[in-house]
Amino acid sequence: MYTEKVLDHFSNPRNMGEVEGANAVGTVGNAKCGDIMQISLKINDDGIIEDVGFKTFGCGAAIATSSMATEMIKGKSIDEAMKLSNAAVVEALEGLPPAKIHCSVLAEEAVKAALEDYHKRREEAK
Ligand code: FES
Repeated sequence: MYTEKVLDHFSNPRNMGEVEGANAVGTVGNAKCGDIMQISLKINDDGIIEDVGFKTFGCGAAIATSSMATEMIKGKSIDEAMKLSNAAVVEALEGLPPAKIHCSVLAEEAVKAALEDYHKRREEAK
């Protein structure tokens, strides 16, 4: 039912926890399943994501998608990370069962929420 990539990211999640010195945090939840995902980012002055962390209180697919999403945006620019789609995360995991696609949507939303938080903090600091 789950691909090896999904099982790998579920069993050995990458970038788990909160990034030390994070300057952006995004938290999203899915009202139906009750799962919650938080992405924290450390973005440098050049707009590059130096470090990423995730905390997911959710199902295995949510953990695997958040782990993969953090890997996909690490070292990327804000603009590139903004373009991360849940479909790209699913593709990188070589597929998810249809009933679990919403878990990958949570990962996309969490990344976007963190990037929005970054912009908001920058605006406030002006
Ligand atoms: Fe809701 Fe996976 S079941 S995030």
